[in-house]
Amino acid sequence: MNLAELNKVAEAMVAPGRGILAADESTGTIKKRFDSIGVESTADTRRDYREMLFRSTEAMSKNISGVILYDETIRQNARDGTPLVKLLERAGSLPGIKVDKGTAPLPSCPGEVVTEGLDGLRTRLAEYRGLGAKFAKWRAVIDIGQPHVVPSYTCVNANAHALARYAALCQDEALVPIVEPEVLMDGGHDIDRCVEVTTWVLKETFQALFLNRVALEGIVLKPNMAVPGKKSAKRASVDEVADRTLRVLKACVPAAVPGIAFLSGGQSDEEATAHLDAMNKMGPLPWRVTFSYGRALQHAPQMVWSGKSENVAAAQRAFGHRAMMNGLAALGKWKADLERKAA
Ligand code: 13P
Repeated sequence: MNLAELNKVAEAMVAPGRGILAADESTGTIKKRFDSIGVESTADTRRDYREMLFRSTEAMSKNISGVILYDETIRQNARDGTPLVKLLERAGSLPGIKVDKGTAPLPSCPGEVVTEGLDGLRTRLAEYRGLGAKFAKWRAVIDIGQPHVVPSYTCVNANAHALARYAALCQDEALVPIVEPEVLMDGGHDIDRCVEVTTWVLKETFQALFLNRVALEGIVLKPNMAVPGKKSAKRASVDEVADRTLRVLKACVPAAVPGIAFLSGGQSDEEATAHLDAMNKMGPLPWRVTFSYGRALQHAPQMVWSGKSENVAAAQRAFGHRAMMNGLAALGKWKADLERKAA
């Protein structure tokens, strides 16, 4: 393992004012997104849509440090025949790749899942590296159930182990692993319960990373924020989310980790930006804190685009706006007024 090289890539992924675009929706997930805007999901429409984002040159070069691609996308060419990976490289953005194979039910743990994809992973990583990937992503999914038996130890432990095995393989194959243990926002739990479960999940994850000899200087952590469940009647202010999230992270994430890039997880576009900004305003922090958003970066441009070529320029502006707002939030320099001015 060349740790200096891995560390350089990890640092670039979380460079000041920049963050990651998660454009790695599986074919099933992107179909759901396209269904909601009345667009048929085909290899060509998926390519057109993603090409539109990657050709948003200003946003890509200023605010998007890297893009997580799906297996189909890393192999696709733009309409003019240029590989999509080359478009990213030209814009100064690093190509990355989702390598997990999604979740499967966890035996004897009703309602819980484990992420699969370790079999044959080394071979796939080497291939992706050859296709231009500099980093990878694996997402573990932890649901907070109503009775306190969920999540189970079995689920937290199995997912932490898989994340650590994946991360060790990535580093061996010269790819920076994004380690993503996501505690879902679904459900009616309050912020205290989210803090409790997220702390546990992160402790288990870092223990597994240690036991599997993963070098923390060569990873990027992609966690959820500490937020109440979507159905909870007890809401939390922006400052409370930022403060509680930072307390969890400071208790669980060693300073050797170069950066933390949050998932948006179903927060509204502006909430995801405001929370990130509030955390950075509470600095200095031991690691860089930025975004690795899927929905919170793509929802707005998807709505504007709606599959029509005449909407491409406006959709690129909508994407550019969210990328810029999150870039400012990554520096603690965002203001709500900037949203109104753009509207
Ligand atoms: P969201 O920001 O939409 O949660 O997606 C991030 C991601 O990559 C989930 O794996």
